[in-house]
Amino acid sequence: MNPPTPSSVPVPVSAPAPDASRPRDFPIRRGCPFSAPEEYTRLRALEPVARVTLPTGREAWVVSRYEDVRELLADPRISADIRRPNFPALGEGEQEIGARLRPFIRTDAPEHTRYRRMLLPEFTVRRIRAMRPAVQTIVDGLLDSMLAAEAPVDFVPLYANAVSTSVICELLGIPAENLEFFRDVTRISGSRHSSAEQVAEALGGLFALISDLVAQRQEQPGDDLLSRLVVGHLRTGDITLPELLSTVGITINAGRETSTNMIALSTLLLLQRPDLMEELRADPSLMPAAVNEFLRVMSIADSIPLRVAAQDIEISGTVIPADDGVIALLAGADHDPEQFPDPGRIDFRRPDNHHVAFGYGVHQCIGQHLARLELEVALETLIRRVPTLRLAVPDEEIDFKHDSATFGIERLPVTW
Ligand code: HEM
Repeated sequence: MNPPTPSSVPVPVSAPAPDASRPRDFPIRRGCPFSAPEEYTRLRALEPVARVTLPTGREAWVVSRYEDVRELLADPRISADIRRPNFPALGEGEQEIGARLRPFIRTDAPEHTRYRRMLLPEFTVRRIRAMRPAVQTIVDGLLDSMLAAEAPVDFVPLYANAVSTSVICELLGIPAENLEFFRDVTRISGSRHSSAEQVAEALGGLFALISDLVAQRQEQPGDDLLSRLVVGHLRTGDITLPELLSTVGITINAGRETSTNMIALSTLLLLQRPDLMEELRADPSLMPAAVNEFLRVMSIADSIPLRVAAQDIEISGTVIPADDGVIALLAGADHDPEQFPDPGRIDFRRPDNHHVAFGYGVHQCIGQHLARLELEVALETLIRRVPTLRLAVPDEEIDFKHDSATFGIERLPVTW
């Protein structure tokens, strides 16, 4: 496996375009799983606002420098409305179903603000901090189950996915009995190859489950997020049932796959870098900084911030015309050497590590405190309780998810 991209990657002066009549294809595959695609180095240096062709055949712009990405995502002239004709979704299924269901991540103010205000009190630092004992109990229980299984096991479903799904279910107050079900919903709805029918069917199953739970909460509200949404917003008429289903559905989808991928990738990285593992064992108080650095280098949600220019917008000397699609490359920004010296180096003591792995501006990840908590507890517990953990296959046999909304690992066979 390749080492993380060093900062000294040579910048090719003129990369030949495979077909000069059409902009280069996007997304661009990663070489190293713990870094941005190497091509981003060239884009930042030579084409910071570049034209690309998406898998849907549409064209869009990609922006790759740190300052430009932040400027773009904070610009009030940018729209996240998936109904706009040139919205740069990476799959047809996402585009068509997104335009029909309109998850709030793909809406603009004032609609977006209304949903965001409803959810924000549930994700404050204080509320998430109070979840730490519950998250620790979940993680310990799942680790007990993994260790009780016969090694080797696949770490992704048994630990990474089980932790992230169980935690999100705990937050929402929904039973985490069927982990496979949640995994399938996210896999199908997040794949660039899924058709609109496949996405609709997967999300339909999720909405049916949430709908049953809403009916129960109508009868008997409890002390959980779903009950608070039902009592405080559905009953009062602030929100309709389809809006509630879409909001809870996107929260599950957005929070589950991302955290699963980060837990699995961070574990793989630590198994391949005993020096980093040792550093964390010697000083566990470094864990929050380590998680922050993993988030930066991996930037797994690289092309999640999809937008359309609502007016002409000039970035680094290039005008993105009104109505064109544009993607803010988070991994491009987080490997910009102007902002992060020697960006490929993993440094738990990196000063001012203000990355954009959770996005920037009004759509910045609402679940980021929860994601950090999950990652910290999942990794700290694993390192402490399973010091003999190791890969059960050679590095080359590990499959990565190159075609999903977020980058991750398909299977990670481990033993101990
Ligand atoms: C490591 C884990 C995670 C990463 C890397 C991540 C990344 C992101 C990014 C980049 C965005 C911004 C998208 C945009 O600008 O269009 C976002 C938004 C969002 N995330 Fe996360 N996320 C993570 C975990 C979570 C968790 C655990 C939850 C919920 C429990 C969550 C819920 C959401 C929601 C609801 C939005 C939409 C916010 C809005 O549009 O206002 N995420 N996430």
